[in-house]
Amino acid sequence: MSLWFLLSTLVWGPGSVLLTVVLLLRLSVCIWCYLWDLQHCSTDLTGKTAVVTGANSGVGKSVSQELAHCGVHMILACCSHERGQQALAQIRAASQSNQLLLGEVDVSSMASIRSFAQWLLREHPEIHLLVNNAAVCGLPTTRTPEGLDVTFATNYIGPFLLTNLLQAAPISRAPFAPVPVSVPALTLLHEDQPPARL
Ligand SMILES: NC(=O)c1ccc[n+]([C@@H]2O[C@H](COP(=O)([O-])OP(=O)(O)OC[C@H]3O[C@@H](n4cnc5c(N)ncnc54)[C@H](OP(=O)(O)O)[C@@H]3O)[C@@H](O)[C@H]2O)c1
Repeated sequence: MSLWFLLSTLVWGPGSVLLTVVLLLRLSVCIWCYLWDLQHCSTDLTGKTAVVTGANSGVGKSVSQELAHCGVHMILACCSHERGQQALAQIRAASQSNQLLLGEVDVSSMASIRSFAQWLLREHPEIHLLVNNAAVCGLPTTRTPEGLDVTFATNYIGPFLLTNLLQAAPISRAPFAPVPVSVPALTLLHEDQPPARL
């Protein structure tokens, strides 16, 4: 009897401790996931304006959708009108936001960026957030009509120029936060400035 009692204690004791630990871990993962689900994000960004480049697919589309969900006035900066319109309709349906606008820009073209920035600052002088997301990778070495390597132009020079044109605009009085996605090193450009708070 005492041997049986000893054996069952040896099995059930550690077993129930292990089960409790597993259940607690599972519970904390559920709480963590709930808190990090942007659908439960209570931050209200109504009145803010954001520009996301490459907003028609992947990371850019998801970011645009979540920002639109939080009430941000979104400018989807895409290089293809057709793909941009398609994404805009999908983001509008998913986020229930009617504050979405399509802007056309080819971030590998400095001329396109300059005219986009001009249009942007004329139509929306208060830009709070710029997400430099558009990027390419794995392309063969080719030159743009402006003589730049297409990958370098798209991933580095384009975002650099767009950020600086928007940041340096004298009419933009809003606190401005550039977010580098394609090139994390771009943050170094702004290290002398404290990050703007939205
Ligand atoms: N996915 C990952 O695992 C990963 C990991 C680390 C970093 N990232 C970074 O996250 C960002 C997005 O990645 P992703 O996976 O979402 O890429 P993706 O699905 O290929 O999307 C890239 C977006 O950039 C746009 N784009 C490309 N060239 C452009 C140009 N010249 N002008 C304007 N838009 C242009 C594309 O438009 P079109 O569709 O019209 O071509 C597309 O909307 C990139 O900066 C990437 O470096 C991604």
